[in-house]
Amino acid sequence: MFRYLSCILFFLLLVGPNTQVRAQKYHFVPQPESVSFSEGHFVLDKNTKVVVPKKLQGMLIPYLAEKFKSDLDLDLTFSYRRPDSQEKYIEFKLDKRASVKEEGYHLVVEPGGISISAKDYGGLFNGFQTLRQTFPLEKTGTVQISAMVVKDNPRFGWRGIMLDVSRHFQPKEFVMKQIDVLSSYKVNKFHWHLTDDQGWRIEIKKYPNLTKKGAWRADRTGVAWWQREQATAEEPKTVGGFYTQEDIKQVVAYAQVRNVEVIPEIDVPGHSKALVASYPHLFCYDEPEAHFEVATGGKAPDNAVCAGKESTYSFLGDVIEEIAALFPSKYIHIGGDECNKTNWKKCPYCQKAKADNGLENEEELQSYFIQKVHKLVKAQNKTMIGWDEILSGNGAPGATIMAWRRGKYTPQITAPQNGYPTIMTSYKYMYISQVQGPSISEPEGPKVVLPLSKVYGHDPVPQELTEEEKKLVLGNQASLWGEFTPTPEHCEYMLYPRALASAEVSWSLPENKDWIRFQRALEDYHFPLLERKKVNASKSLFSVYPSYAIDELHGQAIVYLQAEAQGYDIYYTLNGEDPSTESIKYVKEFKTAPKTLLKAGLFNKEGKLLGKIVELRLK
Ligand code: ACM
Ligand code: ZN
Repeated sequence: MFRYLSCILFFLLLVGPNTQVRAQKYHFVPQPESVSFSEGHFVLDKNTKVVVPKKLQGMLIPYLAEKFKSDLDLDLTFSYRRPDSQEKYIEFKLDKRASVKEEGYHLVVEPGGISISAKDYGGLFNGFQTLRQTFPLEKTGTVQISAMVVKDNPRFGWRGIMLDVSRHFQPKEFVMKQIDVLSSYKVNKFHWHLTDDQGWRIEIKKYPNLTKKGAWRADRTGVAWWQREQATAEEPKTVGGFYTQEDIKQVVAYAQVRNVEVIPEIDVPGHSKALVASYPHLFCYDEPEAHFEVATGGKAPDNAVCAGKESTYSFLGDVIEEIAALFPSKYIHIGGDECNKTNWKKCPYCQKAKADNGLENEEELQSYFIQKVHKLVKAQNKTMIGWDEILSGNGAPGATIMAWRRGKYTPQITAPQNGYPTIMTSYKYMYISQVQGPSISEPEGPKVVLPLSKVYGHDPVPQELTEEEKKLVLGNQASLWGEFTPTPEHCEYMLYPRALASAEVSWSLPENKDWIRFQRALEDYHFPLLERKKVNASKSLFSVYPSYAIDELHGQAIVYLQAEAQGYDIYYTLNGEDPSTESIKYVKEFKTAPKTLLKAGLFNKEGKLLGKIVELRLK
């Protein structure tokens, strides 16, 4: 018995802790399905050959060469054949019979070589991203990679990010940078919100006014988004921009190499002020009433296209035809959200369409509109995606739903229950335009706080669904609306690190998620890595959230301090000085005089301030 126990102990000493230590050595995000380490390591250096299947060489080699150079300062040689036994190699193997799902992979690191095998290009690409996360933060020419086997599969086929470039135009170089970074976290869908009230951002050859007029608005910089005056016809329109069709092709090709599908969104029938400003005959009333400027900010009345005029559909048919030719994705997103139907109720064309088609109300008119647009999308052999409002009225059979609303609406449940393939982007958990720390210390934005841990903790599959219905959940997406993100730097601040949390929600099995591990992974590896890539990630994870109550009986304030990040200490001051580890350590709520200035910060064991200092004057 003793011998038996000591054998086990010996085994645990040898394997258990050792495996543990090494399991923490890499900070994979998203967490793979399984990782098992063994003895030894592979030395990756300039003598390593990279083997890429012949048919993928054109696409993969330039990408791999760039990454080995930028990650490690290595110029490696490529071939399509496994080298002779003396030489070290990293082999990418396409194997139709590999026991992985689409985009899944096996990564095997042995002392003599590394192999990444997958059924498809996406799997090889994703396996390489896992391998890259074994690289050190410094660009060393030589890396020791622990021997291990990683078996990995995505939870969902849709692992998306949406970027709104209408409210604030973002240059194509910025878009490409995001695709490059996000794809390294196995994000595979880039939903491009290209049109809205405040700007039309894509060149359509047949309708040049969409970008000549529709891409530009009067400058209201410095005025709060929701307070902005409409523009006059005479004012110069200097704020905006658009992508030429050549730009779009470049972005799409760049994304393809990175296993990212680009899904364009043309948002109709609402959110169309830039469209009706460019082509007023598509509005409900004819000229001279229909004379508009592109919206300058939040307020955008009269922003729906007419659902009754046939010219609306011939126009949209032409636009969809050009869009279909530019984007290889099988999807076109046609919006469909938040359509203000006030004008439809008064418009003779809309009312005639209602009467002619036996429609009960304007909700059914919206379905009529959506179904006609759906036909135009199908004519291009594409699948239509719409926001969950397209379920209202008579619905949109055959479409894919993007479910965003919560509260009294429950499209996350009803869409799959009614047989619709559904992509989840819950505004409560995945609208990353919301601020991510205490609103008193964050930039302007919708005042609901969506901290990193709330994104990370989300499960996009509602428990109410049956197993069959759950299969209709295509995946998950984090969406960044652009009202409050005028600059690329600010967009990055909102995207990172919450896009990494969303990436893990979309890729990893729920049972493999672990907030503490994820937090450590960010701190020890991904924050510095993002910094190296010149990505402006937010450190709001390390903010202190202050709150207080007034004890009127004793004339005192009771102060509570909390932090999202775990494993650190909060220090605070009440004398106006910036806190340090010499200040008062927060243990539990405390009482102080009203009107005191509270300053608090989160510190690590080395005494380093991790986030910003939060300041609050008590009432
Ligand atoms: C949306 O947030 N209006 C889709
Ligand atoms: Zn109308």
